[in-house]
Amino acid sequence: MRLCNEMYLGMRIWCPRKRSCHTRQPTLWNLFVVDIQGTLWYQYQVYTFYLFLFFHNPQSLVMLFTLRQSTLRYAPALAASSLWLANDVAYAREAVDLQKVREAIVDVIESDAEKRGDGTSLYGTMIRLAWHCSGTYSKHDHSGGSAGGRMRFAPEATWEANAGLKAVAQKALEPVKAKFPELSYADLYTYAGVVAVEETGGPKIPFRVGRSDDTDGSTSPPDGRLPDADKGSHVATRQHIRDIFYRMGFNDQEIVALSGAHAMGRCHTDRSGYWGPWTNAENTFSNEYFRLLVEERWSPKVTHNGKPWEGPDQYENAAGNLMMLPSDIALIADPEFKKWVEAYAKDENLFFRHFSKAFSKLLELGVPFKSADPWYKFW
Ligand code: HEM
Repeated sequence: MRLCNEMYLGMRIWCPRKRSCHTRQPTLWNLFVVDIQGTLWYQYQVYTFYLFLFFHNPQSLVMLFTLRQSTLRYAPALAASSLWLANDVAYAREAVDLQKVREAIVDVIESDAEKRGDGTSLYGTMIRLAWHCSGTYSKHDHSGGSAGGRMRFAPEATWEANAGLKAVAQKALEPVKAKFPELSYADLYTYAGVVAVEETGGPKIPFRVGRSDDTDGSTSPPDGRLPDADKGSHVATRQHIRDIFYRMGFNDQEIVALSGAHAMGRCHTDRSGYWGPWTNAENTFSNEYFRLLVEERWSPKVTHNGKPWEGPDQYENAAGNLMMLPSDIALIADPEFKKWVEAYAKDENLFFRHFSKAFSKLLELGVPFKSADPWYKFW
């Protein structure tokens, strides 16, 4: 065979008709050979084109395939992907109305605050619940984290670090769970923290549902994953804080930003043993914690209500009405931490931006979201 002057889709074909190529009628065999060549050449061009699209513009390749799917040949694939999509849509439909959940959570917190009538509330405790659900995560083996909602069960429910969270925060959320049974405990506990931040003037926290619930605490990580407030010295305490938060995958800036949540709520002598609020407005999310850290004079607490203080070592301001934990003071005793404390004290917007990012990251640690990345987003 030799190259012929005939062209097929821009390709010169190999002539099957030998010499008398253009004078003889082609035989059936000749036509067959030409046809095979044409088909192969056509396929070659098409797949080269696909390859080009794949490397240069995968999106358009998907669109092309989607168009091709409309032919009968791709009907099964089309049916399968429709089912897949339908499943996603059904999942999204099944997802609970978070606005309604938010209202129910706020209702619970507000009616509880009314009953208390002393200016304290569950807002801070909800933030702590969300943080303690998530703060058990380890990036080394991907264990722990908020998925599973395991704080309902032993051992986590009985850890000293979680004192008060089951009896107070989780219990308060039971009516919300009863009202929205389709929402997992794991989603509810983390979302309660988000709602508490947002409803008290804090930044918007990106949040998504999709955490499933475990049926017991058998996959809980070992105790000791949440931070202690005091390791005996500033040096040991800040090393401990770093060890704990680095294990989760946070850096120094994120550690300081997250600690700003101590603007909210207070310490309880019957839970941690410590006493008092960090700020003058414990139900308002702000950068006051950082401002007080740099502006107030913090000294070891020695008395409480006129009697010697018998609780664990903590700090108080000159007026004695506000407190700091040794782990809080460690943030201004370390130059790298202090840099961020000062930045957040000066710029609340910066703090809000950084807190929002870090808190959202915290709540998602180790969570294998079912529908987080719908199939059509892989492309
Ligand atoms: C070095 C790290 C931390 C230590 C040692 C620490 C320690 C503590 C302690 C001892 C309490 C008092 C608990 C009680 O008596 O009820 C507390 C409360 C609280 N913590 Fe932290 N914490 C740390 C980090 C965080 C983070 C990262 C968050 C949130 C992002 C957070 C949010 C809170 C809140 C809102 C409260 C108030 C709870 C309430 O009002 O019931 N903490 N923390």
